[in-house]
This record gives sequence, structure tokens and C-alpha cells, in this order.
Amino acid sequence: MSELLRVNGLDKVYDIKKMFKPTMKLKALSNINFHLNSRETLGIVGESGCGKSTLAKVLTKLEQKTAGSIELLGKNFDTFNPKEFHSAIQMVFQDPYQSLNPRKKAFDIISDPLTINTPEKSSADVKEQVYAMMKKVGLREEFAKRYPHHFSGGQRQRLGIARSLMLHPQILILDEPVSALDVSIQAQVLNLLLELQTEFNLAYLFISHDLSVIQHMSDRILVMYLGRVVEYGSRDEIFNNPLHPYTQILLESAPKTNREKKDADHILNGELPSALNLPRGCAFEPRCPYATPGCKEVIPDLIEKQGRWVACHEASFAAKN
Ligand SMILES: Nc1ncnc2c1ncn2[C@@H]1O[C@H](COP(=O)(O)OP(=O)(O)O)[C@@H](O)[C@H]1O
Ligand code: SF4
Ligand SMILES: [Mg+2]
Repeated sequence: MSELLRVNGLDKVYDIKKMFKPTMKLKALSNINFHLNSRETLGIVGESGCGKSTLAKVLTKLEQKTAGSIELLGKNFDTFNPKEFHSAIQMVFQDPYQSLNPRKKAFDIISDPLTINTPEKSSADVKEQVYAMMKKVGLREEFAKRYPHHFSGGQRQRLGIARSLMLHPQILILDEPVSALDVSIQAQVLNLLLELQTEFNLAYLFISHDLSVIQHMSDRILVMYLGRVVEYGSRDEIFNNPLHPYTQILLESAPKTNREKKDADHILNGELPSALNLPRGCAFEPRCPYATPGCKEVIPDLIEKQGRWVACHEASFAAKN
């Protein structure tokens, strides 16, 4: 198993400009560290607003990082030219309705990566590859002439997946790829992703706020809270023996039925603090049942504990309870 991606000390700060007010800084990512191996799935989980999409955007160069370094296929990420970059890493977006050009037919949407990055390819070659990919993602040939609005949600996501695979990337970043779909369709798309991963030897960075989806798809898991990594390790370590209080509460509150979901809303106390005004110490302190006075003052480092990485001053104490 080789390492495809390594992220070191990644920060992303957005400048928030409002009329007649000084520019404010919003720290969406703080000191993110992780790596991704070939053919594995790293699940990224956390509440809405914790920085998951920002991470996906920085890793696909839709946003620029503020600090830190990224190594892609053993090379500095910043030195890749666009063709090399798009052949290494691609993204599938949450909302297939918004991420596909409504004025383009499916054939053109899927063939664009080829015609843009490999203009030397003959049109017969492009056609053959597009139809072969449509077949692999479960889209019939006659769909090639249709516009995205003629497709169902699941078919549109298949279209987005087909487009993302045309340059045979090694890494696919999937940002909530099934969240916009009906539950019955979600399983079909997840199964397709598992099949494609094996067939094309893909590594997935799989982003979701849904723990059951994360558990189903991931080999390893990175839990984020307000722009920071709070726990990072193998799926089984994290699901069987979570050490960070936030991970524990997320797992306890994972809904199995609608009624349980209602009850779970009481477990995670208080609002997510604003990313514009982060607490000085541990960002989870205002909601944490194990907080001590020191937690307010000092940001916990991510340290290795019981076979995974965790950022909590009291992780051992929390684990015993
Ligand atoms: N383009 C942007 N400009 C300013 N703030 C942003 C921008 N995109 C995201 N944010 C802020 O960054 C934080 C993380 O957002 P996001 O990455 O979308 O989280 P998630 O995907 O986990 O829901 C949020 O506080 C969000 O409001
Ligand atoms: S560092 Fe303190 S406040 Fe933060 S999660 Fe751990 S116990 Fe809770
Ligand atoms: Mg998001």
C-alpha cells in the first residue's frame, strides 16, 4: 500500500468583508494533518460547518490554502500542472443538480475532461471511452443525448461520477455524494462507488455527516470539529472505542430511527460556536461534559493514544466513563 496524499499543518482562513466594517478572519481549517493510502477510503465526518467542504475545495484547488503543505503522489501539490493535477485527483460534489452544466448534454459533460486535457485524442476514441464509462456507471447509451434535467437524482450523480473518472485519477474526493439522494437510491450509489473503487484501484476521501454511511464506506476515519481534527484512526478503533468526547457523543446520537434522532438532539448540548469567534482553548469546551478549567485555556494537541490520534486533554478520563 503506498501513500498518495499527505497533508501537513493545513490552514484555511476566509476573509469576511462587510460594508463599513473591518475585514474579519474566519478560520475554517486549523492545522489539519492526515494521509491517504492507495485504494483505501478515509472517511471525514463532523457537523455541518466544521470545514469538510473547505478541505475538499483546498485539496482540489477550488480554494487556495492559507498555510501548510500538501504532498500528492510524492510531489509538492503546488508544482502540478493542471493536466497532471486533474489526472491525479478529482471531485464528486454533493449536489448533482448544481455541479452539472444544465446547457450541456451528458455526452459533452462526460467527455469534457478528455477533450480539455487530451486534445490529441481522436473523436472516435473519445466516443468509445465515454460510452464505456457510461456503461460502467450504469447509464444507458441513449442517455448521452439528454440534458441533466432529464435525469433523476441518482442518474445525475452517476453522470458526475462518470465525468470524475474519465482521466483515471488515483484519488476521488466525494463531498457528501449521497446526501441529496433518496435513501433507497443512496445504497445503489454507494454500492456503485465500492465497485468502481475495486475496478479502478481508487482511493477515496469520503466526506459525510452521516455516521452509518461513513461506517459502511471507510477504512479509516478523521473526525473534525470546528476546523480541527479531533480524532483520527481506523474505523474499528473509532467506532468500537471512541476516545474524544465529541466522537463519543456523535456515535451515541447517531440516529437509528426517527424517534431516537429526536432524543439524540438533547445529547449534544448547546450551539456550535461561531468559526468567526473560536474559543481560546479547546473548541469543544462549551459543550463538553468532561471539560476542566484548563480546557478553556489550552488547545489540545493531536496525540497518539490507544492506537489512534486524539486531541483532548482528558481523553483517558472520558474513555473510562
Ligand atoms: N467561501 C467562503 N467564505 C467565507 N466563509 C466560508 C466560505 N466557505 C465556507 N465558509 C465558512 O467556513 C466554515 C466551514 O464551512 P464548510 O467547509 O462548508 O463546512 P462543512 O462542509 O463541514 O459544512 C463555515 O463556518 C462556513 O461558514
Ligand atoms: S480538551 Fe477538555 S473540553 Fe476539550 S474535549 Fe477534551 S475534555 Fe472536553
Ligand atoms: Mg459541506
